[in-house]
Amino acid sequence: QEHSLILAIETSCDETSVAVVRDGKQVLSNMVSSQIDIHRRFGGVVPEIASRKHVDSITLMIEQAVEEAGIKLEELDAIAVTQGPGLVGALIVGVMAAKSLSLALQIPIIGTHHIAGHIYANRLISELHYPCIALVVSGGHTEIVYMESEGSFRLIGRTRDDAVGEAYDKVARAIGLPYPGGPHVDRLAMEAKKAVELPRSWLAPDSYDFSFSGLKSAVLNALNQSQMKGEPLDHGELARGFQESVIDVLVEKSMRAVKEYGAKQLLLCGGVAANKGLRAALTARSEADGVELVIPPFQYCTDNAAMIGAAAHLKWKQGAFDSLDFNVHPSFSL
Ligand code: KG4
Ligand code: ZN
Repeated sequence: QEHSLILAIETSCDETSVAVVRDGKQVLSNMVSSQIDIHRRFGGVVPEIASRKHVDSITLMIEQAVEEAGIKLEELDAIAVTQGPGLVGALIVGVMAAKSLSLALQIPIIGTHHIAGHIYANRLISELHYPCIALVVSGGHTEIVYMESEGSFRLIGRTRDDAVGEAYDKVARAIGLPYPGGPHVDRLAMEAKKAVELPRSWLAPDSYDFSFSGLKSAVLNALNQSQMKGEPLDHGELARGFQESVIDVLVEKSMRAVKEYGAKQLLLCGGVAANKGLRAALTARSEADGVELVIPPFQYCTDNAAMIGAAAHLKWKQGAFDSLDFNVHPSFSL
């Protein structure tokens, strides 16, 4: 079946989101309730609080998504929900809500992979042409995924330590910026005139893996040294050095993957896809190398349910439904 009207739920981390998506590409509504203000004072996401807040918001988000979409519940074809990876307690809230709806409305439930969702966010704005390469960059993930055809995911590279967003957040914290620090570091870096020289971690020449913890330590060392010596260190120049190092490695490795796998498109996704420096560098490199680059608008880069609806449509077409006793999958691999 080509046509679908899917209600999608995403609660894997600190955003409670519900969307209504038609045919996996037309977003009728995409409600997002962010808990960031609550977690900020702890300097990161507190899992127990996240679960409780999802419980508080999920019903309202479902009601608002349906109302905003202007549909009746009876029109829905299926319920999609993020099954993993993510925080176990947070995932359970979304899966329980999805099961209740599926049971009450007597329609299929589709468990969806969070990263497949991030990748398929690109389908909300563009046709996808295979084979393609996706660069997934978020607070929890840094991955290069090769897609030979629709719905086929092959992980060809991943971070061996920190995710990019996580490294951004740690650097931000070290220079006294609020959580989540990625956007603040991005802004400082874009405004700085010069960059502090920092290392790049390439790993083996043919590797698509990443490592960002060495870079993060180099930033912390530079801060410590400047304190010990009493020599001031410009935070903007430090941020720019960090950002340039991150971007060089991300751009180089993803472009190499595009060439090696003969990809027709490069898809950028995940919260760090909002990074101005990364967008600019990838855009310039793609133009120079004649590669088609797709980057979703900001609201589809960070966690949202519309992307889950987009990914679930594939499974809908295949009739790949789950039974009501399916479980969350906190460390789900693609
Ligand atoms: O995809 P996302 O919303 O949640 C996860 O699934 O992790 O990504 C959130 C991450 C955070 O680490 C945040 O600091 C980072 O994305 N981020 C950025 C920018 N905007 C958000 N990192 C660098 N530059 C940005 N402009
Ligand atoms: Zn995410």
